[in-house]
Amino acid sequence: MSKDFYKDLIVYQIWPRSFCDSNGDGIGDIGGIISKLDYIKDLGADAIWLSPVYPSPNHDYGYDIADYMDISPDYGTLDDFKTLLFEAHRRGIKIIMDLVINHTSNEHKWFIESKKSEDNPYHDYYFWRKGKSDKKPPNNWKSTFAGPGWTYDEHLDKWYLHLFAVEQPDLNMDNPKVRKEVKDIMRFWLDMGVDGFREDVITFISKKEGLPDGFPIPVACGIEHYKKGPHLHEYLAEFKDDVLAHYDCFTVGEAPMMTPEYAIELTAEGKDQRLNMMFHFEHMQADCFITDFLQRPFSLKKYKSSMSKWQKALYGKAWNTLYLENHDHPRIISRYGDDKKYRVESGKMLAVSYLCQGGTPFIYQGQEIGMTNIRLPEIEMYEDVATKNVYKMARGFGLSDKMIMSLAKKASRDNARTPVQWNDSKNAGFTAAEKPWFHINPNYTEINVESDLENPNSILNFYKKLIKLRRENPVFTYGNFKEHMENSKDFYVYERNLDGKKLFVICSFSNKAVRFKAPKGINLEYENLILANYNSRKTSDNEFTAKPYEARVYLFG
Ligand code: NOJ
Repeated sequence: MSKDFYKDLIVYQIWPRSFCDSNGDGIGDIGGIISKLDYIKDLGADAIWLSPVYPSPNHDYGYDIADYMDISPDYGTLDDFKTLLFEAHRRGIKIIMDLVINHTSNEHKWFIESKKSEDNPYHDYYFWRKGKSDKKPPNNWKSTFAGPGWTYDEHLDKWYLHLFAVEQPDLNMDNPKVRKEVKDIMRFWLDMGVDGFREDVITFISKKEGLPDGFPIPVACGIEHYKKGPHLHEYLAEFKDDVLAHYDCFTVGEAPMMTPEYAIELTAEGKDQRLNMMFHFEHMQADCFITDFLQRPFSLKKYKSSMSKWQKALYGKAWNTLYLENHDHPRIISRYGDDKKYRVESGKMLAVSYLCQGGTPFIYQGQEIGMTNIRLPEIEMYEDVATKNVYKMARGFGLSDKMIMSLAKKASRDNARTPVQWNDSKNAGFTAAEKPWFHINPNYTEINVESDLENPNSILNFYKKLIKLRRENPVFTYGNFKEHMENSKDFYVYERNLDGKKLFVICSFSNKAVRFKAPKGINLEYENLILANYNSRKTSDNEFTAKPYEARVYLFG
């Protein structure tokens, strides 16, 4: 693989509202981020993905943008942002912005104009359509947040398309004026010095001509007509040729329902590369089906086969992203690990399971200290629009409040959006305000950054060690991939090889002690053990009883 700078980065994701509040209004802000740059650097990260900080009415917490070229007063000013950029760069930390261009807020001036009249110059910026004769929407598409995909406007007697919330009208990317706006937005931030973009649901930006009916399913009906739209390549090529190629920057595209073949089509290195890498969702469905709400028991087999499939398929062709958490999914320890008895052990093991693979790693705020789901008991306590919509829809289907709440406690995105737990003082050190904007997980007295920094055996210090090893040994980033013991119901075992170096990784996903026997031809020596989440004594490493959630990393050569 070629050695582009973005392949060696460790990216830390910040969801600003819940990161750190510097001005005591209960909301995280840019000043708070600046105050934690040394912490991020010390963790070993050298890039930040900043979730949206633009002005927004916050129906989808920043993913409904009302002005692409400004900073929300909740978070600060453009000058504050420039200071952040300067301070980050000074420390060798890159910053990528969230580029949300599939839709805007319904409070964006383009949308306000577009609904004034059919001859308004902005009318065609969105998908306005006449309904079917019987007062029905133009087609049967449904929002990915549950509920209808169209909303009626009486004044125009037309409907507008929104693949997400009602307040997030979809932009009509087929309109060249819209694409020009997108390019202007990109240039605005790149000229200021940002290092690239995480592109929100970027694979949805081209919709099939005629907007035909979709296969009738209750959520995201119609997705087959936009998940891989007819002009996606063309539009991405335009953004790249006209803008991105002229800057030293990188891009990562978010792509629900992405397959390795399609990811390669979009990200394969060479002149047709559209984006540098993609976020796929497959490994996030080892305990659910399509959405986090359609739950099933965690399947190690599914996790392993997805992780390994992407490692093998992209090797030598395109570049992987590695992540287990972000602001859209519940906390990983509460899902694939054990957030009670073995929180620390399983948190470290999960880190090993993905951070020893090839690709650019992403770590979400709080993941590095093993934050867990908050499990809010009542729907009124939730903020997330997707959770509220699913609740409404499921009630409509006749599900009881109790039943839906037991799902929400596990599946809601709000589990990942509680404020970062910095210390054990009031409000977890997140804010000096009396009341933070959102609930703080009561376990902050035990789980917080300060105590993790002090404890040499903490999850945080384990992440630091692992990141350091990754930096020192290119086999972590660039090695090839071979899985062992594929059929094991307890272990995920794989090796990586590069220039005579071999990495051998053992992860037990069992909450019980289980017997491990090295595969034929592998000779594990204690001297080669570079990282473990238990203090392994000098016994035979080729055969041992692995403790619950035990992880070991060996390096040879
Ligand atoms: C993906 C974002 O990560 C998510 O938070 C948002 O709700 C949707 N896209 C819509 O923008």
